[in-house]
Amino acid sequence: MNITICFASLAPEPWVQALQQALPGAQVSAWVPGAPQADHAIVWAPPQQFIDEQSGLKTLFNIGAGVDALLQLKLPPALKVVRLDDAGMSVQMAEYVCHAVIRHFREFDAYDADTQMGKWSYLKPRNRADFAVGVMGLGVLGERVTKALQVFEFPVNGYSRSPKDLPGIRCFSGTQALPQFLQATRVLVNLMPLTPETENMLNQGTLSHLQKGGYVINVARGKHLVEDDLIALIDTGHLAGATLDVFRTEPLPKEHPFWQHPKITVTPHTSARTLREESIAQIVGKIQALQRGEAINGVVDPLRGY
Ligand code: NAP
Ligand code: GLV
Repeated sequence: MNITICFASLAPEPWVQALQQALPGAQVSAWVPGAPQADHAIVWAPPQQFIDEQSGLKTLFNIGAGVDALLQLKLPPALKVVRLDDAGMSVQMAEYVCHAVIRHFREFDAYDADTQMGKWSYLKPRNRADFAVGVMGLGVLGERVTKALQVFEFPVNGYSRSPKDLPGIRCFSGTQALPQFLQATRVLVNLMPLTPETENMLNQGTLSHLQKGGYVINVARGKHLVEDDLIALIDTGHLAGATLDVFRTEPLPKEHPFWQHPKITVTPHTSARTLREESIAQIVGKIQALQRGEAINGVVDPLRGY
């Protein structure tokens, strides 16, 4: 069995070594143009040339949860695309989102500003019931985030494509329910995959439905959000601010207004990082399952786009 590794912006060597150790019977190597045909590939945003040359591949293992970059390529219809299925990402996402929600709810930025001036002051405690958090996307990451938010007793709403029934979560599904979901939400967390249906879904029209003083946490993909619409809604006072981990252009260009906006917190696409050990263990388990002829989780439906 041949395994090839092709990453757009990450050194493949540690992955080659770790995979080779886990699968001693396999030939594992980093892809170079003209390399021999492989059976399985481990990839992140590979070029079209890689797909075109590696026409014998059975499986493409993506080392992230989101497969939007892969689905932009022209892929052979029979090629199985497999996404990372948690592999240590959901707990990181839960930490990140809870941190952002709590930092906003408890007004820690205002306390920071005061303490930096040596000021000992109290703000009036806010009512948790007024801060319903709405999680868009109730998949592997979104569902984990809803559970973490429940620990802090925030009212939690969830929104997905197909209907869900999650204990203690007010669940909404389908586009006709979107306005209701947004109107019931003060803090919006985006955890949907980027698909033709979800691109630009966070815009003036949808974000205006959020409750007054609404807050946006985008941890999915930059192309979900119409950036100028967000800034306009913050500047007119309808929204209180945003925490953004993902952007239409990454790295976020130096001159981008998000960097300096006083009500926007920016992080560099780091809310849930791919963890090498966990990811390799998961991929190795799946390769072995495929060798035994078993079904595996995380196979992407190209028509759905995730
Ligand atoms: P997932 O398991 O595939 O879950 C996706 C969820 O979104 C599902 O609940 C799905 O609904 C819902 N959804 C899809 N299309 C929708 C639509 N048109 N309207 C409403 N809901 C829709 O994905 P995941 O593993 O949770 O990951 C979600 C995304 O997070 C990834 O695609 C990636 O872009 C992003 N991500 C970001 C980072 C980071 O560091 N910033 C890290 C990892 C992942 P159904 O349940 O009905 O199918
Ligand atoms: C990261 O953004 C991922 O999709 O895993």
